[in-house]
Amino acid sequence: MFVKNSWYVAGWSDEVGQQKPLARIMLGEHVVLFRKTDGSVAALEDRCAHRRMPLSLGRITDKDTLICPYHGLTYNSSGKCVHVPGQDAPGEIRIRSYPVEERAGMVWLWMGPPNKAEIDKMFDCSWLERPGWHTTRLYRHAKANYLLLNDNLADLLHVAYLHIPSGGGSEDMGSAEMDLKIQGDGFHFERKTNDIPAPAGYGRLSNAQQNIDRWHLLDYQGPSFYRVHTGVAEIGSGGPDSDLPVGFGRWDILPHHFITPETEDTVHYFQVVGHEWVPTSDSWTFLNNVIDEDVWAIEHQQTALCAEPDIPMQTIPSDGPLRAMRGIVENMLAVETQTQ
Ligand code: FES
Ligand SMILES: [Fe+2]
Repeated sequence: MFVKNSWYVAGWSDEVGQQKPLARIMLGEHVVLFRKTDGSVAALEDRCAHRRMPLSLGRITDKDTLICPYHGLTYNSSGKCVHVPGQDAPGEIRIRSYPVEERAGMVWLWMGPPNKAEIDKMFDCSWLERPGWHTTRLYRHAKANYLLLNDNLADLLHVAYLHIPSGGGSEDMGSAEMDLKIQGDGFHFERKTNDIPAPAGYGRLSNAQQNIDRWHLLDYQGPSFYRVHTGVAEIGSGGPDSDLPVGFGRWDILPHHFITPETEDTVHYFQVVGHEWVPTSDSWTFLNNVIDEDVWAIEHQQTALCAEPDIPMQTIPSDGPLRAMRGIVENMLAVETQTQ
Protein backbone atom coordinates (compact mmCIF):
# COMPACT_ATOMS: atom_id res chain seq x y z
CA MET A 1 0.00 0.00 0.00
CA PHE A 2 1.15 3.51 -0.73
CA VAL A 3 0.34 6.92 0.66
CA LYS A 4 -1.41 8.60 -2.27
CA ASN A 5 -1.99 12.07 -0.90
CA SER A 6 1.49 13.37 -1.58
CA TRP A 7 3.57 14.99 -4.28
CA TYR A 8 6.09 12.51 -5.68
CA VAL A 9 8.94 13.08 -8.09
CA ALA A 10 8.16 11.60 -11.52
CA GLY A 11 11.46 12.52 -13.12
CA TRP A 12 14.02 15.18 -13.90
CA SER A 13 12.61 18.16 -15.77
CA ASP A 14 14.91 17.53 -18.71
CA GLU A 15 13.52 14.02 -19.14
CA VAL A 16 10.14 15.44 -20.16
CA GLY A 17 10.14 16.93 -23.65
CA GLN A 18 7.87 17.91 -26.51
CA GLN A 19 9.06 15.25 -28.94
CA LYS A 20 8.59 11.96 -27.16
CA PRO A 21 6.25 10.98 -24.31
CA LEU A 22 7.86 9.66 -21.14
CA ALA A 23 6.45 6.51 -19.53
CA ARG A 24 6.83 6.04 -15.79
CA ILE A 25 5.29 3.73 -13.21
CA MET A 26 4.55 5.43 -9.89
CA LEU A 27 2.78 3.78 -6.97
CA GLY A 28 1.84 0.98 -9.34
CA GLU A 29 0.14 3.39 -11.74
CA HIS A 30 1.25 3.72 -15.35
CA VAL A 31 1.71 7.38 -16.19
CA VAL A 32 2.68 9.21 -19.38
CA LEU A 33 4.23 12.68 -19.30
CA PHE A 34 4.80 15.21 -22.04
CA ARG A 35 5.66 18.88 -22.30
CA LYS A 36 3.18 21.29 -23.84
CA THR A 37 3.95 24.14 -26.20
CA ASP A 38 3.73 26.65 -23.31
CA GLY A 39 6.49 24.72 -21.51
CA SER A 40 4.31 23.20 -18.80
CA VAL A 41 4.04 19.45 -18.25
CA ALA A 42 0.98 17.24 -18.67
CA ALA A 43 0.63 13.87 -16.94
CA LEU A 44 -2.01 11.32 -17.94
CA GLU A 45 -2.86 7.75 -17.28
CA ASP A 46 -0.71 5.75 -19.72
CA ARG A 47 -3.58 3.72 -21.10
CA CYS A 48 -5.87 4.41 -23.99
CA ALA A 49 -9.55 4.17 -23.08
CA HIS A 50 -10.25 2.20 -26.26
CA ARG A 51 -8.10 -0.97 -26.10
CA ARG A 52 -5.58 -0.06 -23.38
CA MET A 53 -2.67 0.69 -25.66
CA PRO A 54 0.07 2.59 -23.76
CA LEU A 55 -0.18 6.20 -24.89
CA SER A 56 3.52 6.66 -24.17
CA LEU A 57 4.09 4.80 -27.44
CA GLY A 58 2.05 7.43 -29.25
CA ARG A 59 2.74 10.87 -30.64
CA ILE A 60 2.62 14.40 -29.21
CA THR A 61 1.06 16.99 -31.53
CA ASP A 62 1.65 20.72 -31.77
CA LYS A 63 -1.86 21.16 -30.35
CA ASP A 64 -0.78 19.72 -26.98
CA THR A 65 -2.59 16.46 -27.60
CA LEU A 66 -1.45 12.87 -27.49
CA ILE A 67 -2.46 10.45 -30.25
CA CYS A 68 -2.80 6.77 -29.48
CA PRO A 69 -0.57 4.81 -31.88
CA TYR A 70 -3.12 2.01 -32.33
CA HIS A 71 -6.32 3.56 -33.73
CA GLY A 72 -5.75 7.27 -33.30
CA LEU A 73 -7.90 8.30 -30.35
CA THR A 74 -6.57 11.71 -29.36
CA TYR A 75 -6.42 13.14 -25.83
CA ASN A 76 -5.85 16.67 -24.61
CA SER A 77 -3.65 17.49 -21.63
CA SER A 78 -6.52 17.18 -19.18
CA GLY A 79 -7.25 13.62 -20.33
CA LYS A 80 -10.35 14.35 -22.39
CA CYS A 81 -10.62 12.51 -25.68
CA VAL A 82 -10.97 15.15 -28.40
CA HIS A 83 -10.97 12.96 -31.50
CA VAL A 84 -12.22 9.48 -32.38
CA PRO A 85 -11.51 8.49 -36.00
CA GLY A 86 -14.75 7.70 -37.85
CA GLN A 87 -16.94 9.30 -35.20
CA ASP A 88 -18.34 12.82 -35.50
CA ALA A 89 -17.96 13.74 -31.83
CA PRO A 90 -15.66 12.08 -29.29
CA GLY A 91 -18.35 11.86 -26.62
CA GLU A 92 -17.36 11.65 -22.97
CA ILE A 93 -14.32 9.41 -23.26
CA ARG A 94 -11.75 10.47 -20.69
CA ILE A 95 -8.63 9.16 -18.96
CA ARG A 96 -7.16 10.26 -15.66
CA SER A 97 -4.91 13.30 -15.49
CA TYR A 98 -2.58 14.19 -12.61
CA PRO A 99 -1.81 17.58 -11.04
CA VAL A 100 1.77 18.51 -11.99
CA GLU A 101 4.33 20.94 -10.56
CA GLU A 102 7.96 21.57 -11.38
CA ARG A 103 10.39 22.43 -8.63
CA ALA A 104 14.17 22.24 -8.23
CA GLY A 105 14.61 20.70 -11.67
CA MET A 106 12.13 17.91 -11.04
CA VAL A 107 8.60 17.10 -12.20
CA TRP A 108 6.25 16.28 -9.33
CA LEU A 109 2.86 14.58 -9.52
CA TRP A 110 0.09 14.59 -6.93
CA MET A 111 -0.96 10.94 -6.78
CA GLY A 112 -4.10 11.37 -4.69
CA PRO A 113 -7.47 12.81 -5.70
CA PRO A 114 -6.79 16.06 -7.62
CA ASN A 115 -9.12 18.06 -5.38
CA LYS A 116 -6.85 17.28 -2.41
CA ALA A 117 -3.67 18.53 -4.06
CA GLU A 118 -2.09 21.22 -1.88
CA ILE A 119 1.01 22.99 -3.05
CA ASP A 120 2.25 23.62 0.49
CA LYS A 121 2.53 19.86 1.01
CA MET A 122 5.48 19.71 -1.38
CA PHE A 123 8.81 18.92 0.23
CA ASP A 124 10.90 22.01 0.91
CA CYS A 125 13.64 22.23 -1.73
CA SER A 126 14.68 25.81 -1.01
CA TRP A 127 18.24 24.82 -0.08
CA LEU A 128 18.69 23.43 -3.58
CA GLU A 129 17.69 26.74 -5.13
CA ARG A 130 20.01 28.97 -3.12
CA PRO A 131 21.94 31.43 -5.27
CA GLY A 132 25.54 30.35 -5.69
CA TRP A 133 24.95 26.77 -4.58
CA HIS A 134 25.73 23.77 -6.74
CA THR A 135 23.99 20.44 -7.00
CA THR A 136 24.91 16.89 -7.89
CA ARG A 137 21.99 14.75 -8.96
CA LEU A 138 21.80 11.00 -8.75
CA TYR A 139 19.16 8.46 -9.73
CA ARG A 140 18.90 4.76 -9.06
CA HIS A 141 16.17 2.28 -9.88
CA ALA A 142 16.27 -0.24 -7.03
CA LYS A 143 14.66 -3.65 -6.77
CA ALA A 144 13.31 -3.16 -3.28
CA ASN A 145 10.19 -1.97 -1.52
CA TYR A 146 10.39 1.78 -0.93
CA LEU A 147 10.17 1.33 2.85
CA LEU A 148 13.55 -0.40 2.85
CA LEU A 149 15.03 2.72 1.29
CA ASN A 150 13.11 4.82 3.83
CA ASP A 151 14.60 2.62 6.58
CA ASN A 152 18.08 3.10 5.19
CA LEU A 153 17.80 6.88 5.30
CA ALA A 154 16.28 6.98 8.78
CA ASP A 155 18.88 4.57 10.16
CA LEU A 156 22.14 6.48 10.29
CA LEU A 157 24.10 3.82 12.15
CA HIS A 158 24.49 2.14 8.77
CA VAL A 159 26.88 4.90 7.71
CA ALA A 160 29.46 3.56 10.16
CA TYR A 161 29.57 0.17 8.46
CA LEU A 162 27.92 0.07 5.05
CA HIS A 163 29.84 3.12 3.83
CA ILE A 164 33.32 2.03 4.89
CA PRO A 165 34.28 0.94 1.33
CA SER A 166 33.39 4.33 -0.19
CA GLY A 167 35.06 6.20 2.67
CA GLY A 168 31.79 7.77 3.80
CA GLY A 169 31.87 6.17 7.23
CA SER A 170 34.03 4.40 9.77
CA GLU A 171 33.41 2.23 12.80
CA ASP A 172 34.36 5.19 14.98
CA MET A 173 30.86 6.46 14.21
CA GLY A 174 29.20 3.42 15.79
CA SER A 175 28.47 5.37 18.97
CA ALA A 176 26.95 8.81 18.78
CA GLU A 177 24.92 11.46 20.55
CA MET A 178 21.38 11.18 19.22
CA ASP A 179 18.34 13.41 19.49
CA LEU A 180 14.96 12.73 17.86
CA LYS A 181 12.03 15.14 17.73
CA ILE A 182 8.78 14.10 16.06
CA GLN A 183 7.05 16.95 14.25
CA GLY A 184 3.65 16.11 12.73
CA ASP A 185 4.14 13.78 9.76
CA GLY A 186 7.91 14.04 10.03
CA PHE A 187 10.81 14.39 12.42
CA HIS A 188 14.13 16.08 13.04
CA PHE A 189 16.98 13.82 14.09
CA GLU A 190 20.56 14.66 14.99
CA ARG A 191 23.42 12.21 15.22
CA LYS A 192 26.89 13.44 16.15
CA THR A 193 30.24 11.80 16.81
CA ASN A 194 33.01 14.11 17.91
CA ASP A 195 36.78 13.86 17.91
CA ILE A 196 37.35 10.89 15.64
CA PRO A 197 39.69 10.33 12.70
CA ALA A 198 37.95 11.39 9.48
CA PRO A 199 36.47 8.56 7.41
CA ALA A 200 38.68 8.16 4.34
CA GLY A 201 36.47 9.95 1.80
CA TYR A 202 35.63 12.84 4.08
CA GLY A 203 39.26 13.11 5.14
CA ARG A 204 40.39 13.42 1.54
CA LEU A 205 37.68 15.89 0.53
CA SER A 206 37.97 18.03 3.68
CA ASN A 207 41.75 17.84 3.84
CA ALA A 208 41.39 17.75 7.62
CA GLN A 209 44.75 17.76 9.37
CA GLN A 210 43.51 16.48 12.72
CA ASN A 211 40.57 14.61 14.22
CA ILE A 212 37.15 15.77 13.14
CA ASP A 213 33.61 16.19 14.41
CA ARG A 214 31.10 14.26 12.27
CA TRP A 215 27.41 15.09 12.14
CA HIS A 216 24.09 14.23 10.52
CA LEU A 217 21.18 16.64 10.90
CA LEU A 218 18.19 14.91 9.32
CA ASP A 219 14.74 16.20 8.45
CA TYR A 220 12.17 13.63 7.39
CA GLN A 221 8.76 14.36 5.91
CA GLY A 222 6.35 11.51 5.29
CA PRO A 223 5.86 9.50 3.34
CA SER A 224 9.34 9.42 1.80
CA PHE A 225 11.36 12.63 1.74
CA TYR A 226 14.61 13.37 3.53
CA ARG A 227 17.01 16.29 3.74
CA VAL A 228 20.30 15.74 5.54
CA HIS A 229 23.04 18.14 6.47
CA THR A 230 26.08 15.96 6.94
CA GLY A 231 29.78 16.55 7.01
CA VAL A 232 32.99 16.80 8.94
CA ALA A 233 34.97 19.68 10.40
CA GLU A 234 38.18 19.72 12.38
CA ILE A 235 37.54 19.32 16.09
CA GLY A 236 36.55 22.38 17.99
CA SER A 237 35.71 24.44 14.91
CA GLY A 238 31.96 24.35 15.45
CA GLY A 239 30.81 21.11 13.82
CA PRO A 240 27.83 21.89 11.56
CA ASP A 241 28.41 25.61 12.18
CA SER A 242 32.12 25.51 11.42
CA ASP A 243 33.30 28.40 9.29
CA LEU A 244 36.46 26.67 8.13
CA PRO A 245 36.73 26.92 4.34
CA VAL A 246 35.57 23.87 2.38
CA GLY A 247 38.57 21.67 1.64
CA PHE A 248 40.60 23.26 4.43
CA GLY A 249 39.36 21.28 7.40
CA ARG A 250 35.66 21.08 6.50
CA TRP A 251 33.53 19.29 3.91
CA ASP A 252 29.76 19.05 4.06
CA ILE A 253 26.77 18.33 1.87
CA LEU A 254 22.98 18.62 1.90
CA PRO A 255 21.62 15.49 0.24
CA HIS A 256 17.89 15.61 -0.51
CA HIS A 257 16.28 12.23 -1.02
CA PHE A 258 13.06 11.89 -3.02
CA ILE A 259 11.65 8.39 -2.94
CA THR A 260 8.92 7.39 -5.37
CA PRO A 261 7.59 3.85 -5.05
CA GLU A 262 7.34 2.22 -8.46
CA THR A 263 5.73 -1.09 -7.48
CA GLU A 264 5.60 -3.01 -4.21
CA ASP A 265 9.01 -4.45 -5.09
CA THR A 266 10.77 -1.58 -6.86
CA VAL A 267 11.51 2.06 -6.22
CA HIS A 268 12.69 5.20 -8.01
CA TYR A 269 15.41 6.83 -5.93
CA PHE A 270 16.07 10.47 -6.83
CA GLN A 271 18.78 12.23 -4.88
CA VAL A 272 19.91 15.83 -5.28
CA VAL A 273 22.93 16.84 -3.23
CA GLY A 274 23.25 20.54 -2.47
CA HIS A 275 26.71 21.94 -1.78
CA GLU A 276 28.63 25.19 -1.71
CA TRP A 277 31.65 23.77 -3.52
CA VAL A 278 32.08 23.20 -7.24
CA PRO A 279 31.65 19.51 -8.16
CA THR A 280 34.75 17.55 -9.11
CA SER A 281 35.31 14.09 -10.54
CA ASP A 282 36.35 13.03 -7.02
CA SER A 283 33.11 14.28 -5.43
CA TRP A 284 31.10 12.68 -8.26
CA THR A 285 32.75 9.29 -7.78
CA PHE A 286 32.42 9.51 -4.01
CA LEU A 287 28.69 10.33 -4.05
CA ASN A 288 27.98 7.61 -6.62
CA ASN A 289 29.87 5.02 -4.61
CA VAL A 290 27.87 5.94 -1.50
CA ILE A 291 24.47 5.62 -3.19
CA ASP A 292 25.50 2.32 -4.78
CA GLU A 293 26.31 0.93 -1.33
CA ASP A 294 22.81 1.86 -0.12
CA VAL A 295 21.11 0.28 -3.13
CA TRP A 296 23.26 -2.83 -2.79
CA ALA A 297 22.09 -3.23 0.82
CA ILE A 298 18.36 -2.75 0.27
CA GLU A 299 18.26 -5.04 -2.76
CA HIS A 300 19.87 -7.81 -0.72
CA GLN A 301 17.42 -7.15 2.12
CA GLN A 302 14.52 -7.37 -0.34
CA THR A 303 15.75 -10.73 -1.60
CA ALA A 304 16.11 -12.04 1.94
CA LEU A 305 12.70 -10.74 3.00
CA CYS A 306 10.99 -12.26 -0.03
CA ALA A 307 12.60 -15.62 0.67
CA GLU A 308 11.58 -15.67 4.35
CA PRO A 309 8.95 -13.00 4.97
CA ASP A 310 7.78 -14.18 8.39
CA ILE A 311 11.02 -14.12 10.37
CA PRO A 312 10.82 -11.27 12.92
CA MET A 313 13.44 -8.52 13.04
CA GLN A 314 15.23 -7.52 16.24
CA THR A 315 15.24 -3.90 17.35
CA ILE A 316 18.34 -2.03 18.58
CA PRO A 317 18.63 1.49 20.10
CA SER A 318 19.67 3.19 16.87
CA ASP A 319 16.40 2.08 15.22
CA GLY A 320 14.49 4.93 16.89
CA PRO A 321 14.15 7.17 13.81
CA LEU A 322 13.40 4.15 11.61
CA ARG A 323 10.59 3.10 13.92
CA ALA A 324 9.30 6.67 14.05
CA MET A 325 9.26 6.82 10.25
CA ARG A 326 7.39 3.53 10.01
CA GLY A 327 4.83 4.82 12.51
CA ILE A 328 4.35 8.05 10.56
CA VAL A 329 3.78 6.17 7.29
CA GLU A 330 1.31 3.80 8.97
CA ASN A 331 -0.55 6.76 10.42
CA MET A 332 -0.70 8.52 7.04
CA LEU A 333 -2.08 5.34 5.46
CA ALA A 334 -4.67 4.98 8.22
CA VAL A 335 -5.81 8.60 7.84
CA GLU A 336 -6.17 8.15 4.09
CA THR A 337 -8.18 4.98 4.53
CA GLN A 338 -10.53 6.68 7.01
CA THR A 339 -11.12 9.71 4.80
CA GLN A 340 -11.68 7.87 1.52
S1 FES B 1 -6.19 1.36 -28.36
FE1 FES B 1 -5.99 3.46 -28.50
S2 FES B 1 -7.15 4.02 -30.18
FE2 FES B 1 -7.45 1.91 -30.01
FE1 LIG C 1 23.66 5.39 3.20
